[in-house]
Amino acid sequence: MKNILVTGGAGFIGSNFVHHLLGKHAGYNIVVFDKLTYAGRLENLKPAEGNPRFAFVRGDICDAGAVTASIREHSIDTIVNFAAETHVDRSIMESDAVVKTNVNGAHVLLEAAREFEIERFHQISTDEVYGAIPAPNRSKEGDPLEPRSPYSASKAGAEHLVYAYFVTYGLPVTTTRGSNNIGPYHYPEKAVPLFTTNAIDNQPLPIYGDGKQMRDYQYVLDHCEAIDLVLHHGQLGEIYNVGTGVETHNIDMARKILDSLGKPHSLITHVVDRAGHDRRYALDISKLRALGWTPSHNFDQALELTVRWFVENEWWWRPIKTGEYLDYYRKQYVERAVAN
Ligand code: NAD
Ligand code: DAU
Repeated sequence: MKNILVTGGAGFIGSNFVHHLLGKHAGYNIVVFDKLTYAGRLENLKPAEGNPRFAFVRGDICDAGAVTASIREHSIDTIVNFAAETHVDRSIMESDAVVKTNVNGAHVLLEAAREFEIERFHQISTDEVYGAIPAPNRSKEGDPLEPRSPYSASKAGAEHLVYAYFVTYGLPVTTTRGSNNIGPYHYPEKAVPLFTTNAIDNQPLPIYGDGKQMRDYQYVLDHCEAIDLVLHHGQLGEIYNVGTGVETHNIDMARKILDSLGKPHSLITHVVDRAGHDRRYALDISKLRALGWTPSHNFDQALELTVRWFVENEWWWRPIKTGEYLDYYRKQYVERAVAN
């Protein structure tokens, strides 16, 4: 492993992963291949600018010609696929781009990986593929997949293709299923950065339904460490859950953000629930622990680091909360609340 193509590397987790790799592995060259959708931000890659081991290519993973040209030009031996349409609410509003990028795009990458006899193809997947998990159950990697949103269904589709390429063509693949990440460069349409930036501005925190849904919020750099571990020590053809193994109610997450910023709980506003909202995700992470991984941050530490980052980096998020973002916000929160 020497020349790594990180697709979707200008997004939230991808950019954190790039900084992690550049810092940890002195011998690796990193090429980010990213379409720069609304969620892809070159600012996220600023710390890598000027590094001779880093290159950026603007391209669409659905474009086979662009993908193969990059692999050839940079002698790529490893692909880590983060590229995706990632927001569940947007996938409910409009699922076209979700299926194209998340399923067809993954297929294009797999074909290219096969053609160039790539050493490793790693797929970044999600705990959402398991569907809603009733307490006290925890999802294990061998459990059936029951995705319930266009987003999670598309991610499950991609996973099936990845596994099929392992079985059918012997492509060396691994997959990780991560829980909710939080941390620097998190696009403020997702709950934690949305609530944090709204709270800083004394704006309402829109909680879906009763707020008793549960998520396993993990620090993004812990997730990056886990992907790194699986890339180096994971078994080919295997899938690994990545999370803390501890779930938090959304309403408690919102209260903690407000407490951390010294803002009143009265900013919490209950709004119409997400359609088909999965009530709880919960992972069994023993398979990853057996590889030697343990998360370095618990929820409180991860949340505090995240809130501080947003307080200190208004230059990053203020320009995002304009233009297209406001159109989306209106549709998602204002118009929807009125219609219901
Ligand atoms: P993000 O939305 O912040 O970033 C996605 C990136 O993919 C962006 O840079 C975007 O420009 C790029 N992209 C989108 N379509 C593309 C295309 N057709 N071609 C090339 N690039 C394209 O997403 P994220 O939160 O960083 O998630 C990254 C990956 O991790 C996704 O595969 C997601 O499903 C998975 N995941 C996310 C979480 C989470 O909590 N955020 C948890 C588990 C798994
Ligand atoms: O579980 C992993 C997944 O986590 C990833 O695969 C997805 O790409 C990522 O977006 C995330 O999905 P969620 O839907 O869980 O994340 P989101 O931040 O959108 O929502 C977190 C929880 O908060 C969820 O239960 C919905 C709720 N929520 C969300 C928003 C945006 C609210 O109550 N209000 C909101 O305004």
